[in-house]
Amino acid sequence: MEKKNIDWSNLGFAYQVTDKRFVSNYKNGAWDEGIMTEDATITLTECAGVLQYAQTCFEGLKAYTTEDGRTVCFRPDLNASRMKDSCERLEMPVFPEDKFVEAVKAVVRANEAYVPPYGSGATLYIRPYMFGSSAVIGVKPAEEYQFRIFCTPVGPYFKGGAKPITIRVCDYDRAAPHGTGHIKAGLNYAMSLYQIVDAHEKGFDENMYLDAATRTYVEETGGANFIFITKDGTMVTPKSDSILPSITRRSLMVVAEKYLGMKVEHRPVRFDEIKDFAECGLCGTAAVISPVGKINDHGNEICFPSGMDEMGPVTKKLYDTLTGIQMGRIEAPEGWIVEI
Ligand code: PLP
Ligand code: COI
Repeated sequence: MEKKNIDWSNLGFAYQVTDKRFVSNYKNGAWDEGIMTEDATITLTECAGVLQYAQTCFEGLKAYTTEDGRTVCFRPDLNASRMKDSCERLEMPVFPEDKFVEAVKAVVRANEAYVPPYGSGATLYIRPYMFGSSAVIGVKPAEEYQFRIFCTPVGPYFKGGAKPITIRVCDYDRAAPHGTGHIKAGLNYAMSLYQIVDAHEKGFDENMYLDAATRTYVEETGGANFIFITKDGTMVTPKSDSILPSITRRSLMVVAEKYLGMKVEHRPVRFDEIKDFAECGLCGTAAVISPVGKINDHGNEICFPSGMDEMGPVTKKLYDTLTGIQMGRIEAPEGWIVEI
């Protein structure tokens, strides 16, 4: 397969149109077979559920070229299952999980020329999403839905790749207790835009959200979970009903324990504990593991001993092992790597 003429190593995290995408429609209580199409546009009624009441959710996963030249993706079954949870919470029909995985594979196969070569530093980001497509004017779920998957080649989510970033404690909340923080609803991201624009204007890369009820526990950022490394090498990661259950974070818990022999704690993490940690990172599909060098809490700086020049040593080991598994350099646990 001849690859597209793309400057893979200089890609940022931005959308570029690729050749084909998957589309399936839900009508009269059932999903159709779905098709692959070259049409990257959508025509909708002005009163569509997604446009009026934000009835939409999405997923994000990546495809990779392995060292031995295979095209693979990472744990797509977990994205299918998380999308099911999102749909159930948003009164949307579930797209069958097995068909979700098949459609992901079909989209990657149809856009194989856009899967970045091994070693380029880029990956193919895959974006499944669903939205209410029929008209609603009273506040209620739509009757018709569209499920789509497109893909786009991407580079690092944060400029500078593995360089430590600076984040700030945010005064706004991302998710309410008993709200929608644990699902991947579009609305969670819409209401984070004000905060991220403000953070960027003030020179910060991301927002650290605290728990909305007490503002004493660490939740997550706008698009990634936290991992912390204690001074004695334990990986600590926040537990809360209002954070998104990151597939990367769940995978890292296994990598830390089973591959690196580390102790792992998944528990509520008080904000006032983090000044004692040795390393901090953001983890997610887009973020992979992005090291955090500094957290600004209303002018008070928490500077991690790992500094602002490079990833801390334990974070680096986690990063190398996880990406080693994803790129086929290290044997993966059963079922993690799905060949296209
Ligand atoms: N938290 C939020 C709010 C996210 O948007 C994401 C991205 O998907 C994550 C965490 C990381 O999740 P995952 O590792 O499944 O990509
Ligand atoms: C992902 O990591 O897949 C996400 O959806 C995060 C988003 C902020 C790009």
